[in-house]
Amino acid sequence: MGATRPADPSVPTPFWDSDIATRLADFALLRERSDGLEFITRDDGAGYWSVTSYAGVRAVTRDPLRFTSTRGFSLDDMPPELLTMLGSIIAMDDPKHQQYRRLVQVAFSPRAIRQMTAYVGELADAIVEDIRERRTFDFVETVGANLPFQVIADLLDIPTADRPKLRELIDLILGVDDHEVSDVDTSLRAVTEFFEYTMELGRRRRQNPGDDVTSLLMQAEVDGKRLTAAEFGSFVILLAAAGNDTTRTGLAWAMHLLSGHPEQKRAVADGFDEHVGNAIEEVLRWCSPVLHMRRTATEDVVLGRHAIAAGDKVVVWYIAANHDPAVFSDPLRFDIHRGNARDHVAFGAGGPHFCLGAGLARMEMRVVLGKLLAAFPDLHATAPPVTLRSVFVHGVKALPCSVD
Ligand code: HEM
Repeated sequence: MGATRPADPSVPTPFWDSDIATRLADFALLRERSDGLEFITRDDGAGYWSVTSYAGVRAVTRDPLRFTSTRGFSLDDMPPELLTMLGSIIAMDDPKHQQYRRLVQVAFSPRAIRQMTAYVGELADAIVEDIRERRTFDFVETVGANLPFQVIADLLDIPTADRPKLRELIDLILGVDDHEVSDVDTSLRAVTEFFEYTMELGRRRRQNPGDDVTSLLMQAEVDGKRLTAAEFGSFVILLAAAGNDTTRTGLAWAMHLLSGHPEQKRAVADGFDEHVGNAIEEVLRWCSPVLHMRRTATEDVVLGRHAIAAGDKVVVWYIAANHDPAVFSDPLRFDIHRGNARDHVAFGAGGPHFCLGAGLARMEMRVVLGKLLAAFPDLHATAPPVTLRSVFVHGVKALPCSVD
C-alpha cells in the first residue's frame, strides 16, 4: 500500500488490490469518521453512499420500501439488458419478488436440505478419494469442480456434459474485474452465452418436464401467466451463479483460516458436532464471500445524521458490517468459539432478499469439512489464498493444500 493512497475504499483499484487487512482498516476509518455512512464521490462525479456499520447495513436492507432493489444490485450500474439477464429476483421488489421467490423456495427448505445431505456426502467422498491419490492439490479446483456447482446443477438437472462450460462461464462473469480471468467484453459475452443456454434449456424442459427446479419454473405461473423465456433464463443464471461461487469461496476461506489456526482446526476435528456449526459461522463472518449489495433510495431518507436523497445509490458492505467492533469484539481475530458469530450478515442482514441458499450452503460446508477433517487430520493450506480481484465477491482463485 503506497502512503499516498487515500484511506478510502471509494478508489476502486487500490481497494481491489489491497489485502483484506488493509481493506478492513479502510472500512474502519470510514466507519469511525462518519458513523458508518458516508457519501463517496467518484472521479467521474457519480457517487454512492457507503454503509460500513452493522446497524446501518441492517437498517437499509430491512427497509425495502425506501431502499429498492430494482435499480441494480451492484455498486456499478449495469446496462439494462445486462441487468435483465443477471438480475432476476435479486433485482425485484415485493410483491413481484415474493411471487417469484416462492416458486423455488421449496427446493431450499430445511426438509429439502436434509434430504440432500446424504447425496452431498457422496460427492464429498469422491473428493476425499481424489485427494487421497494426489496428496497435494488446489483446494479451489478440487472442491469447486466437484461440489457446489454439481449440487446446484443437479437441482436444475443440467446435463453433465454441459457443466464444465457453464462453470467456466460463471467464472468469466464474476471475474470481470480480474484481468487474469476476464474483462468487460468477455464477461458480457459469457452472460449472453449462458442466458441463451438457459433459455434453450427451458424450452426443452417445457416439452419434457422432470421433477427438477427448471421444470418447476417452466410449469409455474405468476398471475396466471407462465414465466417468459427471459424470466426463466435469468432465474437459472442467478441460481447457478449464487449457488456456486459463494460456497466454494466460503470453503476455501475455511481451509485457509483453519490452517492458520491449527489448534482451532484440531478442536473442530476432535469435537466436530460440538464445534463445526459455530466454526462455519465464524468463517462466514470473517470472510464474507459476498462483499456488498446495493440498493437505491426511493425517497429522501434521514439515517442517523445523514440525509440520503431520493435516487441515491446505497451500497451495503457486508464485510465491513461483519467486522464492526461495536458488534464483534476484536473483529479481525478468527475465533471458532466467538459467542455471537452467528449474528453475522454474510447471507444478508435480514429483509426480503436474505439468501435463499443459506441452509444449503451451511449444509455443504459442514459435510465437506467433516469428510475432509476425518480423512486427513494433517490437511492444511501450504500458501495464502490467491484472491480474485473483485469489488463484489471475496473470491479465491487458488489455495494450494497438502495432506502430509
Ligand atoms: C456461503 C455461501 C453464500 C453466501 C455468503 C451468500 C450470500 C448471499 C447474499 C449476501 C445475498 C443477498 C442478500 C440481500 O440482498 O439481502 C444472497 C442472495 C441470494 N442467494 Fe446466496 N449466498 C450463499 C450461497 C447461496 C447458495 C448455495 C444459493 C443457492 C442457489 C444461493 C442463492 C441465493 C439467491 C437466489 C439469492 C437472492 C435472494 C432474493 O433476492 O430473494 N446463495 N446470498
